[in-house]
Parts: sequence; structure tokens; C-alpha cells
Amino acid sequence: MLGGRYFSKSMAKNIIYKTVDLFGNEQIQLIEKKKTSNKTLFTDYEGFVDKFEDKKTTDDCYTPKEVMDIIIDYVNNKYPLKDKQIIRPFFPGGDFESIEYPSNAAVIDNPPFSIVTKICKYYIERDIKFFLFYPHLTAFSPDIDATHIIASADITYENGATIKTAFVSNMFGNLKIIGDSELHKKFKELQEKNKANLPKYEYPDNIVTVSKIAYCIEKGVSITIDKKDVKHYRRMDAQKKHGKGLFGAGFLASNKAAAAAAAAAAAAVNKKDNVIVWELSPKELQIIETLDKL
Ligand SMILES: C[S@@+](CC[C@H](N)C(=O)[O-])C[C@H]1O[C@@H](n2cnc3c(N)ncnc32)[C@H](O)[C@@H]1O
Repeated sequence: MLGGRYFSKSMAKNIIYKTVDLFGNEQIQLIEKKKTSNKTLFTDYEGFVDKFEDKKTTDDCYTPKEVMDIIIDYVNNKYPLKDKQIIRPFFPGGDFESIEYPSNAAVIDNPPFSIVTKICKYYIERDIKFFLFYPHLTAFSPDIDATHIIASADITYENGATIKTAFVSNMFGNLKIIGDSELHKKFKELQEKNKANLPKYEYPDNIVTVSKIAYCIEKGVSITIDKKDVKHYRRMDAQKKHGKGLFGAGFLASNKAAAAAAAAAAAAVNKKDNVIVWELSPKELQIIETLDKL
């Protein structure tokens, strides 16, 4: 993974990009940064890494190696990479604009989605070949001279977020759209394989996640929790050493709120979809009361 925590301070001062060979082996390229605009970022590197650790935005979705392997293989089959220098310029502290791209550069990477259109334009203007990850839903938003590759690829990134991902590239000549069912199949197979091996996380009642609330309401059980009963929370102490956190953040709840959430979840467990629960009438309750007294 390319996460900031894997870099030393001295590396952080210089690190600009990674290169990858066709077997997915990565090599870190250490070069002096030309620009100094990111100086503050690196003078407080620890602080920067800390901030990074807490983030769960799409800009901080790190790509598992097996996903990159699928992509590099895919690109290589369509646009032979043998004589190309594969470059991955995007990771914490990177500055894609300060890299001197060799003439045989092929940028294949997952960029920060918030500036991906700007990145594409930068490469198009300089005729630098690229194949980049792009948010699926807005895949057709940018009006740029590039090919949109749609694979309905559900990719689970290193931070646990599963995001439907498309791709954008200037390696495919006159093609504007490629809808690739084979590529879709590869990602589907990967998801299924990973799901089978995925550990399930269970949280104590005092941790309220959005999934817990969703579970209740989807089963027809409504729930409210007061502001005073919860503290916004991103990561349990137990998760720190594993580099994990509450996906999408959550709340640390008072015992009272935890009990209410647990009761709602228990009620939800007993509710099955499309089930009508027949309630006892006051008359029937009265009969029961009479029976109890006998
Ligand atoms: C979606 S993450 C993906 C990281 C990595 N490329 C991967 O595939 O795992 C995008 C990364 O780009 C970094 N980034 C943001 N702005 C950048 C820029 N101008 N140049 C290079 N990297 C940048 C972010 O800090 C983040 O770490």
C-alpha cells in the first residue's frame, strides 16, 4: 500500500512517484522536488501522516496490489507497455506537476478524484499517456479528449471503502467509450474472492456505526439518539495497531444510547422482510390477563 505511514521522513522530503514493471513490482523514485510549494506539508510530516490516517475520503482510497495487477494487465493487452515507463505519481505529498515525465511515460494510477479532470487535462496538453481511475457515476462528466472505460468495477480500497470505479485514458485513439464486460468480470471475481476471505468486524454496543442504524431501519425499526449521548469517533484504540478505523467514522455512545441501539438491533433481528406482524387487541390482552390469574 502507498499509505504515508510507510514512508520515512527523509523519503518524504524527496519522494515524488513510483514506477511499476509489468509484473506489478514497484520501485520508489527519489528525486529532489523542483517546486517548494508543498514545503509546509513536509516540515510537519508526522502531523501530515496523522491527518492522513484519519481520512476516509475517496482521495485517500489506496489501491490494493491485485487491483493494480488487473489494470496493468488490461492496459498491457490493449496498449503494450513493454517499452514504456509505468509511473504512479499519486500519493501523500506527491506533486504530479513537478515530475519530469520521460517521453515513454505511461501514467497508470489511482489519482485524487477531487482533481482528476484537472489531471487528465494536464496530461492531454502534454501528450503524456495515462490510464487513470475515475468515479463511475460521473465518468462522462468531463468534456475531454479521452476514452472512458466503463467496467462497473466495484473496487474495495485499502481503507475498506467499496467504490464503483471507471477509468479514463488517452491510450485508445479514436474510441470515446469502452464498455468492457471482460474487465467487469475480472473485478467481480476479485470481489467475490476477497469477500470469501474477508474478516467480519463486530463492534461493541457503545460504538454506533451508520451500518448499525441502516440495519435497524431497513428492517422497519426506527431509532433516534440524542446529541448529548454520543461523541464523534473515528477509530477505536483496539484498531490503531492494525491501521484500521470505523469506516465512514461513527460515534462512541453512552450506555443509555448503546442500550437503545442494541434494543433496536435486537428488534430488527426478529423482523423478516415482507412479514406482517399481527398485534394482540385490547380484548385479547384482557383474556390473556384473565388466563394469567387462573
Ligand atoms: C486516491 S489516493 C491513491 C493513492 C495511490 N495512487 C494508490 O493507488 O493507492 C490519491 C493520492 O494522491 C495524493 N495527491 C493529492 N494531490 C496530489 C498531487 N497534486 N500530486 C500527486 N499526488 C497527489 C493524495 O494525497 C492521495 O494520497
